[in-house]
Amino acid sequence: MAHCAAASQIALAVPVGSDSTLRKSVLKTSSISFSDRSWAPALSLDLKSKTNGRLQSQNVVCMSVQQANKSKVEVAPVELEDAKDPPLNLYKPKEPYTATIVSVERIVGPKAPGETCHIVIDHGGNVPYWEGQSYGVIPPGENPKKPGAPHNVRLYSIASTRYGDNFDGRTGSLCVRRAVYYDPETGKEDPSKAGVCSNFLCDSKPGDKIRITGPAGKIMLLPEDDPKATHIMIATGTGVAPYRGYLRRMFMESVPKKFEGLAWLFLGVANTDSLLYDEEFTKYLQEYPDHFRYDKALSREQKNKNGGKMYVQDKIEEYSDEIFKLLDNGAHIYFCGLKGMMPGIQDTLKRVAEERGESWEAKLSQLKKNKQWHVEVY
Ligand code: FAD
Ligand code: A2P
Repeated sequence: MAHCAAASQIALAVPVGSDSTLRKSVLKTSSISFSDRSWAPALSLDLKSKTNGRLQSQNVVCMSVQQANKSKVEVAPVELEDAKDPPLNLYKPKEPYTATIVSVERIVGPKAPGETCHIVIDHGGNVPYWEGQSYGVIPPGENPKKPGAPHNVRLYSIASTRYGDNFDGRTGSLCVRRAVYYDPETGKEDPSKAGVCSNFLCDSKPGDKIRITGPAGKIMLLPEDDPKATHIMIATGTGVAPYRGYLRRMFMESVPKKFEGLAWLFLGVANTDSLLYDEEFTKYLQEYPDHFRYDKALSREQKNKNGGKMYVQDKIEEYSDEIFKLLDNGAHIYFCGLKGMMPGIQDTLKRVAEERGESWEAKLSQLKKNKQWHVEVY
């Protein structure tokens, strides 16, 4: 993952592939208010190793690694804490908001099977959202199924907190996987069938306009009534997006609702190069070992106990006793990412419940009733 503007709270556009330029820009642009600069020497700038040529000629803004430190980052405007209910559908498909791309950053390494980008969007403070909500994006062009009409809206989980990556409440970030189509017969990539919106997003450039709708969704909102609560977060791939927002709120930002509980992230990706926001999460682990746990399942690098691919459900099984106890004590559990993970996870949880002499069906319905169970898969 690219590491860069930890020293900056403002957008910083730099050409990829020029580490010295980047380093200079980062250091020059540090008009910031961190009081503890202990993170600064830990910055590393390995953008080159994470580009595969696709983005090399583009400007990117690097802000996925705003470092956690014990003295947290000041955020504004404070009014974003005031509302009792989350903002919902402020902009609808018929009247979307036209926002501006601030930056597009490839955030996986060269050995990742696929491309994932971190995209920062300037909404000027006009499309506020809460952590766990999604934006809709209407890609430019005509809907092939309805000539003359725009494309359908695609939803993307927002990967930043309500304050955005610049901590000023004016941006929202997305974590987007480029949808590529491979011909099953030839095994070759067929660009004519590539995903419309994800490719538009990953190919966009700073300054480009983007039509957004929303914010949408209530299922993945972070319940904050109990600051000591436990939050167990399960993700595959870009499903990590809402958790990046939660964790920045819990550990990076200075917000009135101080987090004193436990956040436990299970992240399933293909390999080390596919890890998303890993530096941020690793930093929380160092700074808040009593409040954060982080377990990774690398399907194409690690094996499960049966010699198969290591999936998130295998990690869940490994810690099932603890997880069940935490759930019994009111923990929230969240699932986000591939739809395909849910049957495997439910099978694992059912098996564990039965081994413990419990009925999974009864437990699940209790979890749902208590609003402890949060699922957003796609
Ligand atoms: P589309 O153009 O809609 O195509 C869909 C798929 O079909 C692609 O894989 C494409 O390659 C394939 N295809 C196209 N043409 C053909 C053809 N002729 N024959 C066979 N296959 C074909 N995605 C993220 O990356 N990050 C997120 O955080 C995220 N959050 C989401 C949150 C929610 C609540 C939901 C519902 C979805 C989320 N998604 C997220 C998925 C996202 O909304 C899109 O579905 C995804 O980006 C694909 O959209 P697209 O326009 O690129 O692909
Ligand atoms: P794999 O593709 O090796 O089968 P990424 O975005 O990096 O591809 O992350 C998605 C992760 O989810 C991959 O590790 C992928 O493994 C994994 N995955 C695929 N299918 C399932 C499933 N049914 N249950 C859990 N994880 C899955």
